[in-house]
Amino acid sequence: MSYQALARKYRPQRFSDIIGQETVVRTLQNAIEQNRIHHAYLFSGVRGIGKTTLARILAKALNCVKGPATEPDNECTICREITEGIDLDVREIDAATYTGVDSIRELRDITQFQPARDRFRIFIIDEAHMLSAPAWNALLKLIEEPPPHVIFMFATTEMQKVPATILSRVQKFVLRKITIDELVGRLRQICQSEKIEADDEALEIVARRGEGSVRDALSILDQIIAFSGRSITAADVATVLGLSDTNFFAHLLTLVSEGDHAGIIEALNEAAESGRDFKLLFRDLLNFVRSMLLFSAGGKGDVFGSDEIAKKFSYSELLRIANLLMRDDDVVNRAEHQRMAVEIALLKAATFPRLREIEKAMSVGAGSSAGTQPARGPAATSDLETFLDRVRKARPAIAGYLGNAKSTKKDNVISFIFNDTYSADAVTDAHEALEKIAREVYGAPTSIVVQTEAKTATKEETPLREDPILKAFQKHLGGEVVESRRSK
Ligand SMILES: Nc1ncnc2c1ncn2[C@@H]1O[C@H](COP(=O)(O)OP(=O)(O)OP(=O)(O)O)[C@@H](O)[C@H]1O
Ligand SMILES: [Mg+2]
Ligand SMILES: [Zn+2]
Repeated sequence: MSYQALARKYRPQRFSDIIGQETVVRTLQNAIEQNRIHHAYLFSGVRGIGKTTLARILAKALNCVKGPATEPDNECTICREITEGIDLDVREIDAATYTGVDSIRELRDITQFQPARDRFRIFIIDEAHMLSAPAWNALLKLIEEPPPHVIFMFATTEMQKVPATILSRVQKFVLRKITIDELVGRLRQICQSEKIEADDEALEIVARRGEGSVRDALSILDQIIAFSGRSITAADVATVLGLSDTNFFAHLLTLVSEGDHAGIIEALNEAAESGRDFKLLFRDLLNFVRSMLLFSAGGKGDVFGSDEIAKKFSYSELLRIANLLMRDDDVVNRAEHQRMAVEIALLKAATFPRLREIEKAMSVGAGSSAGTQPARGPAATSDLETFLDRVRKARPAIAGYLGNAKSTKKDNVISFIFNDTYSADAVTDAHEALEKIAREVYGAPTSIVVQTEAKTATKEETPLREDPILKAFQKHLGGEVVESRRSK
């Protein structure tokens, strides 16, 4: 028995089988019931959400031997022929291969005749946005003076490309994306009839990857069934998609932020054993950190559960991890031994907690606290504020670092003074981009100057051994004081 793609096998044959488009379905059924049948319909929306399916069901409902009815019976010859795509009176035209005006003229000729058998002669024009301007003009005449018994149904992903003259003469239906819950429900139903066992988490990951499209979700499910057979777990889905579940990333990130080197190596060993692609793993990890950053900065998390996890990390902590990982993104992509490259990148990022302690001590020593949320420098002027606003929009990550600085603008120079070298380094790396933005804002070349406040800030009376910075260095990096000298 040959395997039939799920999307084809489970194409809805009745309005009641369609998920997510209740408003459209109700409107169409009401119109049929009240015998208000339009002669031109347009279905628009993203790929795989039921445009073509709806057009075919509507065609059956209108032409069914027992119709026009709110549901086709799917039993009569007409319904069966429409399902098979062989009904002479219901023609499906793919506009992508049928753009010419000649074809439309031909179509016009056909429309002059009565239907061969059915109640209506129906033209389903798919990918309608692909039609040429002359073809639309020819069609316009048909739609303006519709021959009796002729119905047009257009389907398109790009309604904005359909001429306004056409749009004003058709009944428009904008189909919506299918929600995660609806997709999960549909996937579960299909798994049941296929006798496939799948856990909830597995189906949820598939649904998310479907991005609102039933067809996309179903083809992902096809791939996973091909890989793992009749029983599907979240781990299988993760392996197939090269994406791991949120828990895995959250775990990895916790290990990085705690500086748990042994834990990182163990987690990556497990990933290797389950056959995970390390390049994808690294990219997905970066995406994960990014979505938590967005959440942390006040946006909405787009990875499921990311908000819960984001709360465990401060904004600046996430920024730093993201920044450290980003620096190695290229290295990992080009590496021959990707697993090793990922391991090194994560271990490097995991040295960060030690530095954090040092930094904290330094900022205490310097008598100012480093904010965890982006904040404005006290010296910011409104002029400067315009610039910072632009940076926040164009380069949010850098804006986050700038939040840790005192910023000033004098003549054509913007200065940022940091008390941590990490932010200073990150901003220095981005100075070209910042100068470009400054030029756009001020209309004149502007230099970006980055400085670090190299405050040792030990109070005279504090003995050197009690210096918090020194203590932090010793605690995290080891070593002891051999000699101390005071420079004047
Ligand atoms: N709303 C829906 N309810 C149930 N299944 C759907 C729905 N939308 C799409 N499907 C599934 O996806 C498959 C493709 O749907 P359809 O051809 O109607 O998509 P479309 O919106 O026309 O997409 P495209 O823009 O790519 O042509 C169907 O065979 C069906 O399995
Ligand atoms: Mg379609
Ligand atoms: Zn029928």
